Amino acid sequence: MEPELPRKRIAVLASGRGSNFQAVIDAITAGDIPAICVRLVTDNPGAYAIERAESAGIPVTTVDFAKFPSKTAYEEALLAAMQDCRADLFVLAGYMRILGPEIVHEFSGRMINIHPALLPAFAGLHAQWQALEYGVKVAGCTVHIVDEGVDTGPIVIQRCVPVLPDDDEAMLADRILAEEHKALPLAVKLFCEDRLEVTDRRVRIR
Ligand code: GRF
Repeated sequence: MEPELPRKRIAVLASGRGSNFQAVIDAITAGDIPAICVRLVTDNPGAYAIERAESAGIPVTTVDFAKFPSKTAYEEALLAAMQDCRADLFVLAGYMRILGPEIVHEFSGRMINIHPALLPAFAGLHAQWQALEYGVKVAGCTVHIVDEGVDTGPIVIQRCVPVLPDDDEAMLADRILAEEHKALPLAVKLFCEDRLEVTDRRVRIR
C-alpha cells in the first residue's frame, strides 16, 4: 500500500454562494485531496459560503469590508486573518475583490484562483457576458496561480465548454460552473500532492 501523503492545510476565500468552495469540501471529504480545510475567510457577512463552512465544521473568519474606513485598513485585517490560518495554500473560490500587493507577495506561489473564462481572454468581471458579447464559440474556466495582476498568473488547469447559439449569460455561466467544480478541486489536489512545477509562466504537472 502507498504511504499516505501528509495533509496540507488549505484556507478558502469566498465572497458569495460558495459552490466552488463546496466542490473542494466534497473532494476533501471523499478523500480525493490530501488536505484539511482550516478556515473560510470571507469579506461578506451575508455569504452563503458561511453556511456551507458551518455545515462542514470549518471555522469562519469574516473580515467585513464595509466595516473598514479604507481599502488599506481592510487589507491589513485580511492579511492578519490569512496569516493566522497558517495555511499551505489559499484557494480563491469566488472571492470578488482584487488582492493588494502585500498579500500577493506574502503568499506568493501559494494562492490559486478560479476564473470563469479561458484566460487570457475575458479577465475581470462578467467574464461569461464578455464571452457572449465577443461571440466566441468555446468558453470555459481557468485555475491560475495568483500574481499581482488581475487574472494574469500562471495557468494550472483550463476546461472548456461550447457556447450554444441560444445561450444567455445564465445558461453559459451554469455550463461553465459545472466545469469549475471539476477544475478547482483538481488543481487543489495537484498542489497538495506537490505535483505542480512552475517555471516562469508555465506550470508543469508531474
Ligand atoms: C464562479 O463563477 C467563479 O469562477 C467566479 O465567481 C463565481 C463564484 O461562484 N470567480 P461560487 O461562489 O463558487 O458559487
